[in-house]
Amino acid sequence: MDVVEVKNITKRFGNLVVLQDFSVTFSSEGVTVIVGPSGTGKSTLLRCINGLESIDSGDILVDGLSVKEKRNLRKIRLTCGMVFQSTVLFPHLNVLDNLILSPIHLLGMPKKEAVEKARFYLTKVGLVSKEKSRHNELSGGEQQRIAIARALMMNPRILLLDEITSALDPEMSSEVLRILEQLAAEGVYMLVVTHEMTFAQRVASRVLFLEGGSIVLDVSGNDFFIRAKKENERVARFLQYIGE
Ligand SMILES: Nc1ncnc2c1ncn2[C@@H]1O[C@H](COP(=O)(O)OP(=O)(O)O)[C@@H](O)[C@H]1O
Ligand SMILES: [Mg+2]
Repeated sequence: MDVVEVKNITKRFGNLVVLQDFSVTFSSEGVTVIVGPSGTGKSTLLRCINGLESIDSGDILVDGLSVKEKRNLRKIRLTCGMVFQSTVLFPHLNVLDNLILSPIHLLGMPKKEAVEKARFYLTKVGLVSKEKSRHNELSGGEQQRIAIARALMMNPRILLLDEITSALDPEMSSEVLRILEQLAAEGVYMLVVTHEMTFAQRVASRVLFLEGGSIVLDVSGNDFFIRAKKENERVARFLQYIGE
């Protein structure tokens, strides 16, 4: 079953039409990488799916629930966990408390179970030793790894990741990407906006190439990185521009 159905949506900011009559569906398998030049609406698309931006027409269904109904948003945000370019943990809480807060308050998870689960995910992202640290005691890469763990705590069916390594230096970014690769191998379903093409080539089962608010290409990872790179002049130019 498709988890996300984007149906003929239009999204404007004032006079600027970012997405026009835009449709796409995502089913819960593999990793879909969304690429394209800046300003083409990649972030806007993810934010609309998660109900962080309203849409002007059309509809988006997440597990059959419309983002247009305010009362669906809580459920939709549980289905789609989202991590952004930079993450701010609650500064007055340590890492462990940041991780268990929402599961306890929004899912009604018993504290003991939440703590166990938090340690499980902290181990997964290689940061179990940081459970007592606070936001300002963590590097940017560590903050992003905590953000991934925090999103996973809520058992999302899909992780929406919006350029989560673009504020990091190469070393920190590769630590974060390594974790994403591992999650991908474990079958965590992800929609990833990224400019990290080496990573994208390794994990993408599907690539959407967006430009000017439309889908220019919607192909398998191999077709994108092997065929389209050779045969599609626009894709070749884009990859060259970002240094691949
Ligand atoms: N909140 C906003 N208000 C006004 N314009 C916005 C807003 N968010 C994004 N935009 C504009 O919408 C277009 C698409 O932005 P965005 O989705 O962030 O692109 P991308 O993520 O592909 O770089 C850009 O022209 C951007 O300036
Ligand atoms: Mg963006």
